[in-house]
Amino acid sequence: MDKQKLIIKGGNRIEGELALHGAKNAALPLLAATVLIKDGECIIHNCPRLTDVDAALRILSHIGVKCRRDGGTVISDASAIGNCEIPVSLMREMRSSIVFLGSVLGRTRHCRMSYPGGCELGPRPIDLHLAALRSMGAVIEETHGFLDCTAPKGLKGTSVSLSFPSVGATENVMLAAVTASGVTEIEGAAKEPEICDLASFLVSCGADISGAGTDRIIIRGKDKLSGCEYSVMPDRIAAVTYLCCAAVTGGELILTGADITHIGAVVPFLKEMGCRIYSFGRDSIYIKAPERLRAPHTVRTMPYPGFPTDAQAPLMATCTVADGTAVFVENIFDNRYRHVSELLRMGAVIKTEGRVAVVQGVRRLSATELVSPDLRGGAALVIAALSAEGTSSIGGISHIDRGYESIEKALYSVGADIKRI
Ligand code: EPZ
Repeated sequence: MDKQKLIIKGGNRIEGELALHGAKNAALPLLAATVLIKDGECIIHNCPRLTDVDAALRILSHIGVKCRRDGGTVISDASAIGNCEIPVSLMREMRSSIVFLGSVLGRTRHCRMSYPGGCELGPRPIDLHLAALRSMGAVIEETHGFLDCTAPKGLKGTSVSLSFPSVGATENVMLAAVTASGVTEIEGAAKEPEICDLASFLVSCGADISGAGTDRIIIRGKDKLSGCEYSVMPDRIAAVTYLCCAAVTGGELILTGADITHIGAVVPFLKEMGCRIYSFGRDSIYIKAPERLRAPHTVRTMPYPGFPTDAQAPLMATCTVADGTAVFVENIFDNRYRHVSELLRMGAVIKTEGRVAVVQGVRRLSATELVSPDLRGGAALVIAALSAEGTSSIGGISHIDRGYESIEKALYSVGADIKRI
């Protein structure tokens, strides 16, 4: 897989209409949630074809959930699950497999998994997850890189306060709480749209959850959840990525199956850069880019509803050829400027100092050989290559395939000169 490369000849405008795939960061916790469903199957539509989703399906199968994919739909039946150990090999494949902890523990009262390795974004601590689950009665031993978790008397509802609105920790507590005994209150919960998607899926299965989308979520434990039919929300980060592809090539794009309310913190920046962008029909976003982009005001990544950290690299790539200087402050992850060195090799003018990056726009980047450093950094290189002079090659695209469905087919369909070899 990693031998593959994307070959992109820059200069084509991105123009036309593109259907957006379902959200990776909603599909993953949703698939983890199916472990809790004792009777009936879950039919999950708009489930994106991504390697991270494939990895989640392998984890489900490993613990005994019968799941299969039928096109964009995944059918999952967890009526008879057995194993509660997630092997190291599967944990390594997907860093966010920590989200299985809450649902496996909630269903089988035992879960053993290796400590989720760090990832390209730096260490990925799980202290908030563990503290919250322990406060619900979980006994968690951390030995030699393994987590051995049991809940001998089952999980009990309690009041959990998160010192940081961690998306994963909020999801793990929700998954542990929906079949726990008693009421769980999460203070300081994450408010991302993916949290709301998980809550509405669980409610469709019979859970009692209120407050999702606010920083206070109340969950009343139920002893049994049943299967349902559900459709995953659109991927808001893929939406921003494709809008940036249009913006950086002076293009014009309609994204269908997209929800502009999910990217409310990003739209003002694209407008300030000179793009016309608005919601179109019930579930589409329209963007028209100016001939030359202008640099926006400072971009500070924050928890939702602030500017999403996952959109930082794509927007930075777009700013490398905007007129003026843009400043980025990455407040969420410690090591999320790994795309900068690759952009510099294309002639971008960027200076980083700790959490701050200063981008001085140049007229045009030059194509070269590139390697994706991580998922969103890889997307940033694609955006840069689309507008660069000449033909770029991008390696390490297994990172990109984790979060974008056939990115070369999508971009080719709206005018890009791109192929995968
Ligand atoms: C989710 O990761 C997303 N992944 C990330 O998307 C996204 O960047 C992130 O949320 C922030 O929005 C999935 O949903 C699968 P966090 P998650 O817990 O849950 C610190 C992508 O590109 N923290 O909100 O891991 C942590 O180190 C991926 O699609 C603790 O200190 O994010 C980080 O600095 C990348 N202790 C910050 O909080 C903890 O116990 C945000 O982490 C947990 C987190």
